[in-house]
Order: sequence, then structure tokens, then C-alpha cells
Amino acid sequence: MKLDPFSLERYFAKHEFAAPYLLCSSDCESMALGELLALEPGAQDHFSSLWLGYTESPGNPELRQTITTLYNGLAAGQVLVHAGAEEAIFNFMNVALTSGDHIVVHAPYYQSLGEVARGVGAEVSEWRADPQNAWQPDLDDLQAALTERTKVVVINLPHNPTGFLPEADFVYALSALSDRHGFVIFSDEVYRGLELDPADRLPAMADVNEQAVSLGVMSKTYGLAGLRIGWIATRNAALLKKMSAFKDYTTICNSAPSEFLATIALRHAESIARRNREIINHNLEHLDRFFNAHADWFAWQRPKAGSIAFPQLLRGSVDDFCNKLLKDAGVLLLPGSLYGPRYNAFRVGFGRRNMPEALAKFETHIKEKKGMEEP
Ligand SMILES: Cc1ncc(COP(=O)(O)O)c(C=O)c1O
Repeated sequence: MKLDPFSLERYFAKHEFAAPYLLCSSDCESMALGELLALEPGAQDHFSSLWLGYTESPGNPELRQTITTLYNGLAAGQVLVHAGAEEAIFNFMNVALTSGDHIVVHAPYYQSLGEVARGVGAEVSEWRADPQNAWQPDLDDLQAALTERTKVVVINLPHNPTGFLPEADFVYALSALSDRHGFVIFSDEVYRGLELDPADRLPAMADVNEQAVSLGVMSKTYGLAGLRIGWIATRNAALLKKMSAFKDYTTICNSAPSEFLATIALRHAESIARRNREIINHNLEHLDRFFNAHADWFAWQRPKAGSIAFPQLLRGSVDDFCNKLLKDAGVLLLPGSLYGPRYNAFRVGFGRRNMPEALAKFETHIKEKKGMEEP
């Protein structure tokens, strides 16, 4: 399989640990190991006595059981744990698609959601979100894109990078379309739980549709990317069986310490997510003020969910803008061109506590630019 470089991840590999101020991280505030273990009495001792042999290939039974609490009536046997969401995407695309198949991907998209399918030999069509309509993709457009060969439709809600979140009827309509046309919905839900109004939380696709696959991870909502624990949840037994067998060629089984720590974190899923939503709400107040003050430069659409948004740059090229900001002020934004040449926008991330500090540096830079423009 030949894959093009993952532009966004290459950009992060270059800058993430070198740039002084990160303003585009997609994950929420993390925590130290001690803080996580302190969530439960005795956890520290259990962790010290943890056995470090091979683990059960589908995932630790207690972890899988705990993951089911995020769904509505799924059993532990309908969950397959992976090394992050990324491994699950890779394995799903390899199992669900063969050369000559067709897949439709909600766009703009996190590159692996389309690139792995392309590597498998599938034809990839974009199902584009409409920036004029709060980044909502149109179900009629999807219907028009479907062919006899369409095996998979990828949806990502809450959406990276726009923060778009539809009403629940959108999910049910997509599910009905899948029933009629026979494609499998691969639903990337890695930001689920970060709805600004928890009443807006969508039902998981695996709860709505018998064939669909829901993707979850510890990295975003729970801020625990370093655990590298992700999962798929599905009622599609045939697909789950094939993915389990495919995993023998990727990681075989998961990291025992990570599974243990993820289990503890998910037993406290709601309180960790609430903490992160509070950080997001606080940061969004700063962003609202910033974008209001600089509406001549940026078009801001306040997201309904998630820890990222995709404001448009109204002047000049976003690549030049982001390069200059990094060089002059040490602030890292993610140019939208990494999602495709048509996006003169940038990804801003606001799940971390130190965001206001990075935003202040950004604002100083903008004010200097404006000062230079004045006659
Ligand atoms: C939409 C989406 N899906 C999947 C992933 C991969 O998650 P992980 O890095 O935890 O494997 C990301 C990470 O940025 C993402 O934004």
C-alpha cells in the first residue's frame, strides 16, 4: 500500500514541540499520571502490581465493558480496542474496502479518513461541508455522490476542523440512507462529549444503525492522547470479526498500562469531560472577543461542539499568514491548506488551559500588523 505523507501530522511533527505557543491543538487539557491515579483509592497500588505480559487482543474485558457506558445498550463484545483512533481507521479501511470500491468522505477531513481508503485502491469522493450554512454537509449532495460501488460513507461529528454539529434528525436521515443504499457509515466521534450544551449530544451512530461503526478515543474529549487507546463500537458482527483478525497484523493487542489507565479515566468520563468543557467555555469567551475585535481580518463561526474551529482569513494567503505568525510571534496555527487548497482558513484549538496566553501573543501580532497598515 502506498500512502501520501499525512500533511497535518508532518506539520505537527515539525512544529508541535518547538513552537512556544500552540494555538491549534485538537486535544483537551491532559493530566499527569498521578492525577489520574488519584481518581480512585488503591489505583496506585494496582498500577504497581500490573502484569506486563501480552493482553487480550480485542481489549481488556473491563475496559471494553466501561466503554459500553458511553453507548446505549451495546455489549462489551461489540467493542474492539485499538492503539488510538488512528489504528482503528487504518484497520477499518483495510477491512471494509477493496480496490475499485467507492467511499464518500465528509470534507474537509482528517487526512487518514480518506488517504487510507485511497491507499487500498478505493475511489474517494468528498462530501463537502458548506461554510455558508454553518459548515453543514447537504444530504442531497451525498445522495448525488452515491454509486453502485459506494461501500462506505465517513461522517465526523462533532467535526474536525469546523466544530459543526447537526441536529439529531441529520443522523437518523443518514442512517435511513445507509439502509436504503447498503453502505456502511463510519462515524468518527472522537470529539463526542464536548458539546457546549450537553443536550445537543448526538446519539452514537452504532446505537442508531445496525451496520454502522462508531469511532472513539481517549485523546480528545478526555485529553489522554498519550495513552494511545481508541476503539470502535458496532453491532456489525461480521465487520468486527474481520477487524479483530486484521489487528493481528498491526498491534496484536494493546498496552496493558494504557488499558488500565483508560479504564480508570472512563469510569470518571463525565467529570473529566465536564472539566474540559469548562476550559473550552472559558476559552471561547476570549475567542469571541478576539474575533469580534478583528472582524475585518477573520470570519468567525462559533462552534457548537469540540475543541477546534476553522475561522476564515479574509486577507492574503493563509500559508503566508501562519508562517509569519510562527516566525514573528512563536504562535502555531494550522493552515487550512493542509485540509485542501480551497480552505483559506486556519484551525484554532481551545481545549487547553494556556490558550489565552497564546491568543494574547496572536493579538499583539495582529495589532502590530494593523499598525503597519495605518498611513
Ligand atoms: C477527527 C479525528 N479522527 C481521528 C483522529 C486520530 O486520533 P488519535 O491521534 O488519538 O489516534 C484525530 C486526531 O486528531 C481526529 O481529529
